[in-house]
Amino acid sequence: MTNINTEKLSSARFAEATDAFVEEFTASVSFDQRMALQDIQGSLAHATMLESIGILTAEDLTAIQKGLAQISDEIKRGEFTWSIKQEDVHMNIEARLTDLIGIAGKKLHTGRSRNDQVATDIRLYLRSEIGEILKQLRRLQLALLEVAEREADTIMPGFTHLQVAQPVTFGHHMMAWFEMLSRDQQRLQDCCKRINIMPLGAAALAGTSYPIDRFMTASLLGFERPSYNSLDSVSDRDFAIEFAAAASLIMVHLSRFSEELVLWTSAQFDFIDIPDAFCTGSSIMPQKKNPDVPELVRGKAGRVTGHLMSLLMLMKSQPLAYNKDNQEDKEPLFDCVDTLINSLRAFADMMPRVQTKADNMYKAAKRGFATATDLADYLVRDKGMAFRDAHEVVGLAVRLGVETGRDLSELSLTELQQFAPSISEDVFDILKLEGSVAARNHIGGTAPEQVRAAIARARAELQS
Ligand code: ARG
Repeated sequence: MTNINTEKLSSARFAEATDAFVEEFTASVSFDQRMALQDIQGSLAHATMLESIGILTAEDLTAIQKGLAQISDEIKRGEFTWSIKQEDVHMNIEARLTDLIGIAGKKLHTGRSRNDQVATDIRLYLRSEIGEILKQLRRLQLALLEVAEREADTIMPGFTHLQVAQPVTFGHHMMAWFEMLSRDQQRLQDCCKRINIMPLGAAALAGTSYPIDRFMTASLLGFERPSYNSLDSVSDRDFAIEFAAAASLIMVHLSRFSEELVLWTSAQFDFIDIPDAFCTGSSIMPQKKNPDVPELVRGKAGRVTGHLMSLLMLMKSQPLAYNKDNQEDKEPLFDCVDTLINSLRAFADMMPRVQTKADNMYKAAKRGFATATDLADYLVRDKGMAFRDAHEVVGLAVRLGVETGRDLSELSLTELQQFAPSISEDVFDILKLEGSVAARNHIGGTAPEQVRAAIARARAELQS
C-alpha cells in the first residue's frame, strides 16, 4: 500500500498521484459549491430513504442528519474549507461528513453515484432560482403596469421600420412589453415541469441493486416523480438548455426594451428621461448623461444567448450516458441565472422612475403624418371610397404637406377637397391624434379605454 495517494478519490485503483495541474484542471469545486445546500438536501432525502429500506440504521441516519446540519451551518457562515483535492462539491461534503461522524458518513453514498447526484442537484438549484427569477419578472411586470396606467392617454408616434407610422399611446407601448414578459413567465413555468423530475436512483447509469424507493425520495424532495430511464437520467441536460433558451428570450426582450429606451433618451428623440441613479457621466465630456443600465442589459443579452449556444454544443454528439463533458454545464447555467436576475432587477427598479416628455412625443407624432391611415379610413368608411383610391388621395395630401412643411391637420379644407371633393369639415376630428388613437377601440387596440382594459386584465392575470 505504499506509493498510494490516499487523498485521491477512489484511491485504491491508482498507483500514481494525480498530476497537480490535472487536479486543478478537472476540479469543479470552485464553481459547483454554489449547489452545496441542494447537495445536502438531496443527501438528507437519500439517507432517509436508505434508512426506511433498512440499508442504514436509525443511528446512522441521525448521525448523518446531525453532520449535514453542521456542514450546512459551516457553509452558510462561510467557515467551510473547500479543497480541490476533493474535486467537487459532492466529495467535499461527503469527506467532511466522514470527518465529523466517521463510518456512517462512509455509508451515505450507498446506492448512489455522483452522476445521478449532480443531475439532481442542478435540478433542485434551477427550480429554486426560477422561483427568484419569476419574482423579479413579476416586479417588472407590475412596474410596467404602473407606467401604463399613468401614461394610458399619453400620445406618442408608433413606428414601423423606425419611421413614424400611426399614433399610439405610451401606455399601449408599455403593455406590449408586458405581453412579452407574460409569455416569458409561461415559458419558465413550462420549463419547470421538466426540471421537476428526479434523476436520483439512476446511480452511475444503470440503476442500483439496492431495493431503493425512488418515489419516496422524489416526494421528500418535492419532485413530481422519479425519472423513467436511468441512462437518460444521468445524461439529460435538456432542461438546462430549455432554461437557457427561456432566459435568452427574456434577455432578448430586455435588449429590445433597452434599445428603445436608449433611442428615446437621445437628444434626437427626447421622449423620456432616465433618472440620474441609473445613468453615468463621461470622464471627458462634462455634458454627458449616458443610459448605462439599458445599454449594459442590451450587451448582456449576447452573453446569455452565448451560454445557450455553449450548452447546445456541449450536448451535441454526446454518447450515453454520463460524460465528464457535463461538468461544463454549470458555469454557463449559473451565469445565465445571475445575469438574468440582475438585469430584471435593474429594469424593475428603473422603470417606475422613467419620466415621459409628453409634449415632445406629441410633436413627434404630428411631424410624421401619423394620421394618414385615419384619413384613408375616413374616406372609405364615411365617404364610400374604395381603400386603394383612398390610399392614393391621402398620398397626394401627404405630398402637399411634405412640400409645404405642414401636417395633414394643418391643411385647409379647400386644399384637402382638391384631392377628394367629398371631404367635409368633420375630417379635422379624425386628423387629430387624440381622435386617431381613440378610434382604435377594440380588444388589443391602442385606444386609452382599451389600454385601461388591458391593464385590468393583466392585473387579474397576475393575481391568479
Ligand atoms: N463534478 C461532476 C460534474 O459536475 C460530478 C459528477 C462526476 N462524475 C464522474 N463520474 N466523474 O459533472
